[in-house]
Amino acid sequence: MQPNETRIDRVIRMELYFDTISRAVQSGMGLLLSDPLLQAMLDALTAYYENGQWQADYEADEQGELPSELKRGVLSQDGVYNLLFEIEHRKAIYRGGTMRRKNMGAKAILYPMPVLIIGSYDENGIPNAMNAAWGGISEKTQISICVSEDHKTMSNILARKAFTVSIANAENVVAADYVGVVSGNKEPDKIAKTGWTTVKSDNVDAPLFEELPLALECKLICYDEATCRLVGEIVNVCADERILTDGKVDLSKFRPITYDPVNHDYLALGEKVGKAFSDGLKLK
Ligand SMILES: Cc1cc2nc3c(=O)[nH]c(=O)nc-3n(C[C@H](O)[C@H](O)[C@H](O)COP(=O)(O)O)c2cc1C
Repeated sequence: MQPNETRIDRVIRMELYFDTISRAVQSGMGLLLSDPLLQAMLDALTAYYENGQWQADYEADEQGELPSELKRGVLSQDGVYNLLFEIEHRKAIYRGGTMRRKNMGAKAILYPMPVLIIGSYDENGIPNAMNAAWGGISEKTQISICVSEDHKTMSNILARKAFTVSIANAENVVAADYVGVVSGNKEPDKIAKTGWTTVKSDNVDAPLFEELPLALECKLICYDEATCRLVGEIVNVCADERILTDGKVDLSKFRPITYDPVNHDYLALGEKVGKAFSDGLKLK
């Protein structure tokens, strides 16, 4: 308590602290934890609540000793308690949140990572396939994939200026992994080993695999050896009827897989947890 401060002055002062701190909490814990003035107000409010003065003022108010026009949200039952509790809780999250994070360094970790099967022909028309996780849509009808220049796939694409990108699914996980661990440079029978049936795309000079039900047919736009970035124009997407419901891709039939780059696992994509362009509108 300040020297010569009356009960009313004290309530006015604590009301000011209560309001100011409540507003600061709403704008994030960073401000509250870094501003010395706010910290001093919080210390004073905490002391006021814990040393019995709040209780005395609360009871005086209950007895009708405080003027009715006095603003005194600070004396509302549970008001200060709830605020102090909320601050402790948020502090734990704020501090704990940064401390509990583990830095993993500069790595290619992203979720979900695709399992792209790149199909290509060599100069002699021999089909090949490789597994690629480092890729994604980079423009409305453009795909970018990081493909090492020493892969058979890359020399094929440069020769034929085209490729297909099928999305691996749970049914094909073994063969999909196989084409990621064996190179067509060393295994001329690579596709025969997968058991996949090859058909030429109608739209580009590259093979489709009948067992893989969804594929992007792409023409080469460019390849940069320094960054290994392959960019393709998606000229068509074709999907096998067996994975469609009412003409649309049905994930429960398709069962695409994702690659977990930390544990090196393949996981089936499945559960629907929200509606895009819609759920977020609730917060608008
Ligand atoms: C899960 C997984 C993801 C892969 N992602 C890529 C990738 O994004 N880029 C790449 O150049 N190689 C990647 N690879 C390695 C190639 O698929 C592998 O070297 C393959 O044998 C190349 O085949 P090819 O020489 O017949 O073209 C990946 C392999 C696996 C198993």
